[in-house]
Amino acid sequence: MKNVLVTGATSGIGLNYVKKNLNKDYNFFLIGRNFTDLKNYIKNKKIKSKIKFINFDFKKKIGLFNFNKIPKLDYIVLSAGIAKYNLIKDFNENIFDEVININLIQTSKFVGFLVKKNKINEYASIVVISSISGCKMAFKLNYAYSISKAGLKAMVETLACELASKYIRVNSVAPGMVETPLNKKLSNDDYFTKIDKTKYLLGKRYAKVKEISDVINFLLSKNSSFITGQTIIVDGGFTLTK
Ligand SMILES: NC(=O)c1ccc[n+]([C@@H]2O[C@H](COP(=O)([O-])OP(=O)(O)OC[C@H]3O[C@@H](n4cnc5c(N)ncnc54)[C@H](OP(=O)(O)O)[C@@H]3O)[C@@H](O)[C@H]2O)c1
Repeated sequence: MKNVLVTGATSGIGLNYVKKNLNKDYNFFLIGRNFTDLKNYIKNKKIKSKIKFINFDFKKKIGLFNFNKIPKLDYIVLSAGIAKYNLIKDFNENIFDEVININLIQTSKFVGFLVKKNKINEYASIVVISSISGCKMAFKLNYAYSISKAGLKAMVETLACELASKYIRVNSVAPGMVETPLNKKLSNDDYFTKIDKTKYLLGKRYAKVKEISDVINFLLSKNSSFITGQTIIVDGGFTLTK
């Protein structure tokens, strides 16, 4: 039985990862604010996994999270994140603080507490959801977002160095655009919607959530036992075109 913690487990990439793995012998500890979709999804299903829903808003201080609720973990998926766009000429301190706080500060503090409180088993694997924005290329409008994701790269590499003595691996997945609710808010006129889809060389389309979950599963599993501190880009070849 694996103890698996997922942040951002209520929507998009995190939710799909959970759905894909409900038939495994997992003890899930899912963090989010609104579990309606997942609860509806599992209502009449026979699932093998056990699930503990943990309602926690990442706007709160991480020190308020009750770490006693969770056992020592084998797999950790950090998918909680937000995207808010504006040009630097319209710099907005509230947007900047919110994006950096949720995506980078709270996520890295959370892992800090997990390590300090001895909540990660030897041979565990941690996967962070990053983005091509910030770790591979730059986009306008993405000032705070790309800074947050660039910071996650440093987090992954530093953790990988420090936790390797316990054979704990830490990696990230950097998607291009993925079909999730995060992008549904964008209108047809938005800069990101207007980016030429033919740049997504494989299929001229955004990634499906399953295509991200498959890489998360790979990085968590023993199939990637000698990979740590790395970022795997999953963008259908998009970054090859710029
Ligand atoms: N979709 C893309 O195109 C894309 C591309 C590259 C990278 N990513 C990254 O992938 C990750 C997941 O994104 P997604 O596309 O799956 O987005 P999503 O569908 O909007 O899901 C975001 C998740 O983050 C959680 N979250 C956000 N703010 C939170 C808060 N204050 N407290 C607790 N949880 C919070 C949400 O939980 P609640 O709904 O319960 O609040 C939700 O589960 C993010 O880190 C994002 O930056 C996405």
